[in-house]
Amino acid sequence: MTQKKPWGGRFSAPTHALMESFSASVNHDRRLYRHDIRASIAHARMLAKIGVLTEAEFSAIESGLNAIRDDIERGDFQWDESLEDVHMNIEAKLTGRIGEAGKKLHTARSRNDQVAADMRLYLRDQLDGLGRALSALQRQVVQIAAAEAATIMPGFTHLQSAQPVTFGHHLLAWNEMLERDYERLRECRARLNFSPLGSAALAGTGFAIDRAMTAAELGFTGPCRNSLDAVSDRDFAIEFAAGAALLMVHLSRMAEEIVLWSSDAFGFIALGDAFSTGSSIMPQKKNPDVAELIRGKCARVNGNLAALLMLMKAQPLAYNRDNQEDKEALFDSVDTLHQCLEVCTALLPEITLDRERMRAAAALGFSTATDLADYLVGRNVPFREAHEVVGRIVGFAEQKGLQLAQIDLADLRGFCAVIEADVAEVLTVEGSVAARAHPGGTAPARVAEAAEQALRQLNSRDM
Ligand code: ARG
Repeated sequence: MTQKKPWGGRFSAPTHALMESFSASVNHDRRLYRHDIRASIAHARMLAKIGVLTEAEFSAIESGLNAIRDDIERGDFQWDESLEDVHMNIEAKLTGRIGEAGKKLHTARSRNDQVAADMRLYLRDQLDGLGRALSALQRQVVQIAAAEAATIMPGFTHLQSAQPVTFGHHLLAWNEMLERDYERLRECRARLNFSPLGSAALAGTGFAIDRAMTAAELGFTGPCRNSLDAVSDRDFAIEFAAGAALLMVHLSRMAEEIVLWSSDAFGFIALGDAFSTGSSIMPQKKNPDVAELIRGKCARVNGNLAALLMLMKAQPLAYNRDNQEDKEALFDSVDTLHQCLEVCTALLPEITLDRERMRAAAALGFSTATDLADYLVGRNVPFREAHEVVGRIVGFAEQKGLQLAQIDLADLRGFCAVIEADVAEVLTVEGSVAARAHPGGTAPARVAEAAEQALRQLNSRDM
């Protein structure tokens, strides 16, 4: 049933049925209810303090709103599309419940500053939750890195075997990406944490409001500095969407490596049964759908970023109804990110490694050729010349079907007389990784140290 609109005073004809559902957002923005109620209580408390509401009116509003929140949480609240959005639904219900005092709540505010405040409060909460979820994932990654600091695998460039690395080092590279993602979420939180309340529709209000009071009660750093900007800006949502998109790009890279490593061709890892799927036709199959889905969900989160950017493009100041369209994209990025982080975190400890096979693969493709060149440099051969000599040795090995470590010393010396018996150590994959012991290098000792440092860093987080 179509209700009389709270803004209907100057209208003589009812809203067209098409317009009614076209303009309604309550089916998605109702998820802001907790933040909407919290901000309304803060606003009402401030109105009481400046004498616009009596203490009794404030009490009625506060307990009425709390009761409405409980009703919503119990599933005992009838949302009404004809009341457009979460704000008008709650306000109408409040007035139905407590009478006259409810009609005073909207003094000195507008839905424009209200929705901007709700969105910031909502996203702030979500950023805290996502930060915790990301920390949990990082902890998982770093713990495995510490345990596998000496596990050798091929390192790739162009997806061709390049040089041996340790698995722990590879995982710590993942952690570096995630660490920057975490910082981006924290920076987004700090930048959005200002209160639009008091901006009202766009120009502020003539009432002697106390914006610092509402800002402080809601845990904001302070009030937004400009009322026009405060009601129109959604770049906090865009910034989050960008951070989420990049984080999903990182998860998609991790997922892709899980897909590759678990393939028969690589055979480095096996996914746990609990995170694998079968084929409806091929009985032997065990598929990494979980990783493919994470890779796939990267698309929608990046789409959400594009949607929010286009939504804001060329909007004149101040508030425009376009901004109502920010919700679904934002909510979807939040939900998708949360889900992917949780799945990733649960999936990692279920992975088993085939360390033998990883090590064997690391030795293929003449992966210690650079080590041999460096060895020659250590014996005073200029690097360019060393590169050339080793290139010839690789050609020889390829022709004979040998690994570098399998070539006779005499044959090696035929290519370059400075080579001696101690070259054997240099040509092994263990020798190769151990040699890279500088900060940021792949040597097991360095990786163990870096993992410990990363864990300390994670433990020092306030959330
Ligand atoms: N539902 C609206 C939104 O999300 C609330 C603000 C509406 N303001 C207005 N003047 N129509 O943006």
